[in-house]
Amino acid sequence: MTLDQIKEAARFISSKIEVKPQFGIILGSGLGSFADELSQKVCIGFRQIPHFHVSTVAGHEGRMVIGTYDKIPVMILQGRFHYYEGYAMDQVTFPVRCMLSLGISNLIVTNAAGSVDIEYKPGDFMLIKDHIKFHGENPLRGPNMDEYGPRFNDMSDPYSAQIRQLAKSCAKAVNIELKEGVYYYMTGPCYETAAEVKAINTLGANAVGMSTAPEVIVAAHGGMNIMGLSCITNMATGIIDQHVDHDGVMKMGNQVEKKFITLLKSILTEWSTL
Ligand code: HPA
Repeated sequence: MTLDQIKEAARFISSKIEVKPQFGIILGSGLGSFADELSQKVCIGFRQIPHFHVSTVAGHEGRMVIGTYDKIPVMILQGRFHYYEGYAMDQVTFPVRCMLSLGISNLIVTNAAGSVDIEYKPGDFMLIKDHIKFHGENPLRGPNMDEYGPRFNDMSDPYSAQIRQLAKSCAKAVNIELKEGVYYYMTGPCYETAAEVKAINTLGANAVGMSTAPEVIVAAHGGMNIMGLSCITNMATGIIDQHVDHDGVMKMGNQVEKKFITLLKSILTEWSTL
């Protein structure tokens, strides 16, 4: 994707909205309904936006919702693009570049993930402390876009320690248990084998999923403050004697969505005061 394409998409979005969003929020499988709660809502289908793509996954709405929550201007992506859908990494991360072009400096990424850690249970929330991405190409491969960030960007604190601290105290205040762990990126679309899950756990991860890390790399390159939140929807293959399927992932996402939104709102309100 070229800089001109990013700028054109950003200009189009800008022409449709009156507020200037401060937060970008990407909502994962089964977690999209927070967007319904915004005021002064403007919805833009991904199809309408120049150079955007179409989300092909069940549970991914495929639209952008811009509005305010508690007077905080936000841009929500209800749905995202995944590498396993056949998109190139620069297509997967195109929305993040659009956010950057619109001057959005804070990013909240959420996802559904499988637990590779016996201490984590379906329905748990995990604040992402760090990620491991060994698979799929790097989204920053190719000529560097200097207007966003440097060729070799630092990845020592992509999931801001300051924001993680804030998230943990918010979780306490609303009485929601929040674990903190490492997210392992797999390209998918198949779920992992039991041997892969064992290896992933040995490498130091607590949860596994098929999104988030590419977007976070591009957001970190652009200097965004980032927070990642995983909803543990299932035990990954082999951790317990049970199959993994997308319907089960969606079901658990929907089951804990209310609690998830309570946590999200509390974090957003606190973060906006920084
Ligand atoms: N593996 C990979 N991605 C996932 C899983 C899983 O077990 N659950 C939800 N997304």
